[in-house]
Amino acid sequence: MADIQMPSPGPGEILIRVHASSVTMGDVMLRKLPRALLTVVGVLVGFKPKDIAGVEFAGEVVEAGPQVTRFAQGDRVFGTTTGLTTGGNAEYLCIPERWKAGVVSKIPAGLSYEDAAVLPVGSMTATQLLDKAGVTSGDRVLIYGASGSVGTYAVQLALQIGATVTGVCSTANLELVRSLGAASVVDYAREDFAKTAMMFDVVFDAVGKISRSRAKPVMASGARYVSVKYPTKEVLEQLERNALLASKGSIKPVVDRRYSLDQIVEAHRYVESRRKKGNVVVAIGPASM
Ligand SMILES: NC(=O)c1ccc[n+]([C@@H]2O[C@H](COP(=O)([O-])OP(=O)(O)OC[C@H]3O[C@@H](n4cnc5c(N)ncnc54)[C@H](OP(=O)(O)O)[C@@H]3O)[C@@H](O)[C@H]2O)c1
Repeated sequence: MADIQMPSPGPGEILIRVHASSVTMGDVMLRKLPRALLTVVGVLVGFKPKDIAGVEFAGEVVEAGPQVTRFAQGDRVFGTTTGLTTGGNAEYLCIPERWKAGVVSKIPAGLSYEDAAVLPVGSMTATQLLDKAGVTSGDRVLIYGASGSVGTYAVQLALQIGATVTGVCSTANLELVRSLGAASVVDYAREDFAKTAMMFDVVFDAVGKISRSRAKPVMASGARYVSVKYPTKEVLEQLERNALLASKGSIKPVVDRRYSLDQIVEAHRYVESRRKKGNVVVAIGPASM
């Protein structure tokens, strides 16, 4: 934790008072990678390592720099800081209104700062992998690791498409996954999902733990396999569509624990345990809800 100089928006930039952020598995992985390695990789792919952690954020625009067209002072906004050196685990955030790697948009009415802060990474990843698998109405979809961030969004977004969902998780998360609408659940601590009698049109590995060959016994003829190990990118339209669904209550961001900014180390420790259910919020300031 450190006090640093207040950022000031230049041309095309907005200054945001952050009300809520998160700790994602990606944040943990970025923190653990050596900075020298990140610097070298960054040169190759065109970004610099982060000075401030936190890929996701939600807050209020307090100042719009010259030439800003998409946002104005007072707008409630949310998004990611992907590819930027700054991050959401801070009281203020200064970002461009447009850049290549990340996304920022207005929060639809009815969606809280905390729910908006945990939507971007998990929901966009779930959407892209469901798209990649070509999930359509009536498909039987197995979500392996249904209780994580990507998993809880994947269950709900697959249901929105009209698929029938089976979730795989541990005993402690069976009720959660059922409550999201999964028609059936498989407890991986008691049963090998690859030996169930059910067959699936899509197997979605939401935690990067199973291979296509491991899933083969439960894949119907012509079935598709997707995994969080596949690269994804951030697409503004997808984020906005998911936010609209969340604002109407059609999908619900699952918030497991809330931490204050002072507790950021504990928040990272918890996410690093790989036991989080859905998402972990970092509440910043009194207006986080
Ligand atoms: N491709 C991309 O762009 C992209 C984007 C976002 C995330 N990711 C990656 O996707 C993965 C998932 O991230 P996440 O934030 O959704 O979840 P996460 O925090 O990595 O996982 C937490 C959940 O995983 C479950 N889990 C742990 N071990 C499991 C196992 N062996 N089998 C089944 N479930 C297991 C846990 O449930 P139990 O306690 O019930 O086991 C917990 O609910 C991460 O590796 C992340 O880096 C990739």
